[in-house]
Amino acid sequence: MASRAGAAVLGALLLGPMQHASAQEGFLAVQEQCVACHGSGDSTTAEVPSLGGIDSYYALLQLVAFRSGNRAGDAMQALTSEMTDNDLRAAAAWIAGLPPPQVPAPGTGAGSDAGALAQDHRCNTCHGADFRGGKQIPPLRNQRADYLRKALLDFRAERRLGSRAAMVEIAQALTEEEVDLLADYLATLP
Ligand code: HEC
Ligand code: HEC
Repeated sequence: MASRAGAAVLGALLLGPMQHASAQEGFLAVQEQCVACHGSGDSTTAEVPSLGGIDSYYALLQLVAFRSGNRAGDAMQALTSEMTDNDLRAAAAWIAGLPPPQVPAPGTGAGSDAGALAQDHRCNTCHGADFRGGKQIPPLRNQRADYLRKALLDFRAERRLGSRAAMVEIAQALTEEEVDLLADYLATLP
């Protein structure tokens, strides 16, 4: 199965030794492109996620998923297809060092309703009490609302499956209106 193969590849990536000193060259050659789309922590591009606050482990998991085609994303698949295991590790280490995204202006749905909704669906049991994520879990706090919305709709439509099936089931329990409310709430948490 795709997810199991993905886990095996990741295991090999994490456990394998760095092959040579110039191992990061492939990443350094494309780093400017990463910044052009994602910014340096805080994304200003529509539907492109901010990378600040993301753990290196989750970042590596996603980069491997893009490269193997397990996660859709044209630009990400094309870029990672040219990168070695060590390039991906270097990219993940760079991401882990980026500052978390800034708090944007309050959104329209940033009320107690959305907070209660997040509690009802126990989003914080996995994403952390303050939604800052964890080793294998992405942060949601101050992520771009349009990206959060897109990600949730992708899980809901099974266009994105994730390393575990959890998010598909969770997103399928949400209405589109609830997705909007949650995305806006999480993006604008003070
Ligand atoms: C042309 C724009 C573009 C470039 C260049 C680009 N990205 Fe991306 N990246 C995206 C988009 C769009 C997504 C979201 C894909 C999706 O889920 O639809 C993404 C997703 C990601 C994610 C997953 C984040 C998450 O929260 O799950 C990581 C990690 C990432 N990119 C790292 C990189 C790195 C490292 C580079 C440089 C090697 C890079 N990106 C270059 C557009 C870009
Ligand atoms: C059982 C644990 C769990 C729960 C509960 C959970 N999530 Fe997740 N979530 C995950 C995992 C694991 C991922 C990463 C999936 C992957 O590998 O792509 C994720 C990914 C996401 C993403 C994609 C973020 C990104 O950077 O790409 C969003 C958005 C998200 N979750 C929102 C929510 C919301 C909103 C709730 C509550 C309605 C919720 N999650 C509840 C485990 C959980």
